[in-house]
Amino acid sequence: MVTDLRLRRLPTAALTSAEVDAIRAILFAAFGDDPEEAFTEDDWDHALGGTHVVADLAGTIVAHASIVPREIHVGGRPLTTGYVEAVAVRPGQQRRGLGTAVMRVVAEVVASSELGALGTGEHGFYERLGWRTWRGPSSVRTEDGERATPDDDGYLMVLATPTSPPLDLEAPISCELRPGDVW
Ligand SMILES: CC(C)(COP(=O)(O)OP(=O)(O)OC[C@H]1O[C@@H](n2cnc3c(N)ncnc32)[C@H](O)[C@@H]1OP(=O)(O)O)[C@@H](O)C(=O)NCCC(=O)NCCS
Repeated sequence: MVTDLRLRRLPTAALTSAEVDAIRAILFAAFGDDPEEAFTEDDWDHALGGTHVVADLAGTIVAHASIVPREIHVGGRPLTTGYVEAVAVRPGQQRRGLGTAVMRVVAEVVASSELGALGTGEHGFYERLGWRTWRGPSSVRTEDGERATPDDDGYLMVLATPTSPPLDLEAPISCELRPGDVW
């Protein structure tokens, strides 16, 4: 475990331009060049407007996650949701507990919503922290009604909070439309 780790939570407007540059550099490096996995400008936009969790070691930012407000419907019921975006640890500093430390703060932030949710291919990392894979069909709510998002089925994870209703992981789940990846 790393010592001298500082963990901060702050709104987007409180990030300095140097901090934004450092966080973006970590995200683009950590997600790599594979077009299927690479971090995009839409992904960055999705990470803005909520709460950022920023970890630094001796003044150097090493890890980040953000939580943005979304309205997710489960089984047709709208739930205020803390949706987690842009989780990454600086390459070279991974597997030292930094991602776990950031996600523990994320859980504290998410606790004020009715649900935590995120999309990931790294289920094992989040399962250790209490996140569960949503098994029901996913969709996006558009002006023309709901559109299935089968490519995202099995990709979504949720975290129950103190105000979550009982969660049926097999139920349908939907999100509002946004540019880029909707989930
Ligand atoms: C995934 C990521 C955020 C994890 O952060 P980290 O600091 O490397 O992870 P930690 O050291 O806190 O925890 C690692 C633990 O999770 C477990 N784990 C399971 N799946 C994992 C995965 N895909 N990546 C890393 N650790 C994983 C490890 O076995 C380890 O457990 P252990 O300590 O008992 O051995 C980080 O590796 C990363 O930035 N990866 C690239 C970007 C990415 O995939 N982001 C998240 C996807 S949405």
